[in-house]
Amino acid sequence: MNPVRIAPSILSADFARLGEEVRAIDAAGADWIHIDVMDGHFVPNISFGPVVMKAIRGVTAKPFDVHLMIAPVDPYLDAFAEAGADTISVHVEAGPHIHRSLQHIKGLGKRAGVVICPGTPAKALDYLLDSADLVLVMSVNPGFGGQSFIENQLKKIEAVRRMIDVNGRAIDLEVDGGVDPRWARRCIDAGADALVAGTSVFRGGPAAYAANIAALRGG
Ligand code: DX5
Ligand code: ZN
Repeated sequence: MNPVRIAPSILSADFARLGEEVRAIDAAGADWIHIDVMDGHFVPNISFGPVVMKAIRGVTAKPFDVHLMIAPVDPYLDAFAEAGADTISVHVEAGPHIHRSLQHIKGLGKRAGVVICPGTPAKALDYLLDSADLVLVMSVNPGFGGQSFIENQLKKIEAVRRMIDVNGRAIDLEVDGGVDPRWARRCIDAGADALVAGTSVFRGGPAAYAANIAALRGG
């Protein structure tokens, strides 16, 4: 398995200084920049869209790991691709045609991610793994940073790990929500190879980011 990738969620950044914040997490060792897009409809919160994403595309060369919490999602995939996404992840719960959404993302030349909420079983991925480059298991209900990790999602991470190993393709297994150094260890032990973290990376301000990211790696 690959060494774990850390994807700080800019949802927890200081939005008044967003460019500097992205530069700071890049310098502090972030592998990917996690971009949480919320629409106030699929999830009960609104964040930002492709215009803001495009504005920070120039400040880092790190991959943009875009998590779309919007419904409908298909009409907006092109805009996020054009704004500089590297991976675009869509929820199985966000529309009737998840397979089509994944095909659309691949057609745009981007990595396709599929996301499942805490109430959705791993089995929902059965006919989707062949079209996915990444699976994102939500360990909180999407919509807000700063929530507590839902422990029973560890079983699902283990199940998805087995499914990916059987599939045999190179598919990243990412976990998102409530990940601090203690939960990070348990996610990695369960088979995760990418971790999103907002609160636990941005805590303490820029001087703390490198240590916060290192702590999530277990070091
Ligand atoms: C939740 C988002 C997460 C979240 C992570 O809807 O997808 O990326 O902001 O933040 P923490 O690490 O604070 O749970
Ligand atoms: Zn997210």
